[in-house]
Amino acid sequence: MKKNRQAGFATRAIHDGQQPDPLTGAVNVPIYLTSTYVQQGIGEHKGYEYSRVSNPTRDRLEENLASLEGGVAARVFGSGMAAINAIASMLKSGDHVVCGDDLYGGTPRLFNQVLTGFGLDFSYVDTSDAENVERAIRKNTRMVHVETPTNPLMRLSDLPAISQICRRKKVELVVDNTFMSPYFQQPLALGADMVVHSTTKFLNGHSDGLGGVVVCSKPEQAEKLAFLQKAAGAILSPFECWLVLRGVKTLAARMEVHDRNGRAVAEFLAKHKKVRKVFYPGLVDHPQYELAKLQMSGFGAMITFETGSLKNANKMLKKLRVCSLGESLGGVETLISHPATMTHAALGEKGRKAIGITDGMVRISVGIEDLQDILDDLEFGLAAI
Ligand SMILES: Cc1ncc(COP(=O)(O)O)c(C=O)c1O
Repeated sequence: MKKNRQAGFATRAIHDGQQPDPLTGAVNVPIYLTSTYVQQGIGEHKGYEYSRVSNPTRDRLEENLASLEGGVAARVFGSGMAAINAIASMLKSGDHVVCGDDLYGGTPRLFNQVLTGFGLDFSYVDTSDAENVERAIRKNTRMVHVETPTNPLMRLSDLPAISQICRRKKVELVVDNTFMSPYFQQPLALGADMVVHSTTKFLNGHSDGLGGVVVCSKPEQAEKLAFLQKAAGAILSPFECWLVLRGVKTLAARMEVHDRNGRAVAEFLAKHKKVRKVFYPGLVDHPQYELAKLQMSGFGAMITFETGSLKNANKMLKKLRVCSLGESLGGVETLISHPATMTHAALGEKGRKAIGITDGMVRISVGIEDLQDILDDLEFGLAAI
């Protein structure tokens, strides 16, 4: 590699933080299953005192994920929700947050049913229009929290436009980048202040562990979050850190296949006579197709489509054999879910109706199986409608 050129994404995914073990040369980072560390004398130690505070396997993962998102540091937590909760814990009673109105259902559940009880205030707006964000910002607004694309309606938020508003208003912009992964979207480079992921999804990629990460653009954020790891303790275990370190090595390769299969499945659904509407930023008739091409380097594997009714959705879902019906996304296997009764049940019928989530909507996280097998399975399922 030429001097001064930063290594490419796939190389960094495999090598950053994932140096061979200095003691043995093991190519994989060891799993340090230890709660505590022997000290040489009072205040004399090798940088580690207690595993809630720090652990070498966790350090390696945090180094790796900071590199992939282009941040100064990363802090990992026991789940995506624990990471989002840690970000909210950086605020004070009386602070206000402007959020997207079409977030993963667990996020407004945490905000509305837990954190409002501690004096935080949340407003929900359609962030696909940056002006809605500007209008919702008040004197006590400290943070804007967006997902792009949104879950499940696949609306995009214009990150450079929203980040300019946030800079002007001195408000921090937090982007949940779970759907795209850092391989296809780099929110910090587009002006965000912090990025959050459920590592449970594409970063791990194998549906075998929960986790969350916050990637920071400023050292003060990382310091505050490290304090929250120590003080509140919602850390990721060394074994689950290792699972993400293992999964992330193939992130670039997996995302290429997810994207290729995702585009083909979206085209197939868009032409299918039993499908009434397809929500996918890679379709030319998506209202923000041009923005998608500008701020993302791929369209990804997340697609929502309309079957017409709960009955139709159920008829189809019951027939599927390759696509697995279940919550979650981002695994190597194709996962298919029903937002109204699964991820967005907590919003209630009224809440879902207000933002346009219907009972006939089905969300698919296209996996990396052979494309023809996914298409045949969907054709078989749709034939039942
Ligand atoms: C976009 C998004 N953010 C956050 C979460 C929460 O992550 P976790 O389930 O790891 O707590 C999810 C979970 O589905 C998600 O889809």
